[in-house]
Amino acid sequence: MIGIDQYLEEKKALVNRALMECLPDSGPQEIREAMIYSLEAGGKRLRPILTLAVAETLGKKDDQVLDVACALELVHTYSLIHDDLPAMDDSDMRRGKPTCHRVYGDAIAVLAGDALLTLAFEVVARYGLKSGQFKKAILISSELSKAAGVKGMIGGQVLDLKAEGRELSLLEIENISIMKTGALLKASVMCGAIAAGAGKKERASLERYASNIGTAFQIIDDILDVESSAEELGKPTGSDRKRFMPTFAAVLGIEEARIKAENLCNEAIMAIQDLGRPVEILNGLAKKLVFRTK
Ligand code: IPE
Ligand code: IPE
Ligand code: MG
Ligand code: MG
Ligand code: MG
Repeated sequence: MIGIDQYLEEKKALVNRALMECLPDSGPQEIREAMIYSLEAGGKRLRPILTLAVAETLGKKDDQVLDVACALELVHTYSLIHDDLPAMDDSDMRRGKPTCHRVYGDAIAVLAGDALLTLAFEVVARYGLKSGQFKKAILISSELSKAAGVKGMIGGQVLDLKAEGRELSLLEIENISIMKTGALLKASVMCGAIAAGAGKKERASLERYASNIGTAFQIIDDILDVESSAEELGKPTGSDRKRFMPTFAAVLGIEEARIKAENLCNEAIMAIQDLGRPVEILNGLAKKLVFRTK
């Protein structure tokens, strides 16, 4: 079996190639350029890799779920473009390059985000049409739209904006994180599960896995904002403190926050041990999310 780092490298390259093939081949040049700019800027591709890994764990080949995996990354990249806008986190750097709005202006950045979001659902529909798996495509569409919507990521982003400068309890911070970050990570796992035809019991285990890594992931994002550097992360650091954001790192302190993330990682791993499938890759991914440096 290959190591997790090699696995990540291989899947990232696969996802990157597939993403470029998802892009529209006509339409105004400027918006297509902005979409490519933000997508090509890189990123860890953790969401599509989770989709591929779950499907593979349940016996599906990459090419059967690659469109679905790409849809997750398209939604994620859109969310980052909008998150960075002056009206939101007002960030100048993303994935090691100037943010989309710094290069193309606010209006095109808003539209590039919109275009990536709508493209995601076109790609899910294409998955259904190509494979004939219409029901799965509808279920994936439903899972993804709910995760990205008001009860998920958008709702979390709204609560996050309102949290600026306020003192929140750990429970409130956890709730924001579950919505703004956890929902899409969970959808990455569950869309892979749906595409692979997972049964009820398998879905329940994977849901627990996903919930735990979702919160752990945001805890580490908050810690890295304090501890890492812009060179390493590819985005500005210290921005949460500058905006007086109530984060896991701020409320728990770095050490306790890290212990919490590690405990959640162990919970995630425990949740899938009874799947009766080869779970090494999913175990490795959970650890990678928590012990990451960028
Ligand atoms: C950053 O996500 C935003 C959060 C949801 C915390 P990632 O850390 O996965 O960003 P990329 O995709 O690697 O750039
Ligand atoms: C953003 O959370 C989560 C999204 C839905 C994009 P952050 O605002 O903490 O993400 P970064 O730190 O800018 O990547
Ligand atoms: Mg934000
Ligand atoms: Mg941000
Ligand atoms: Mg952050």
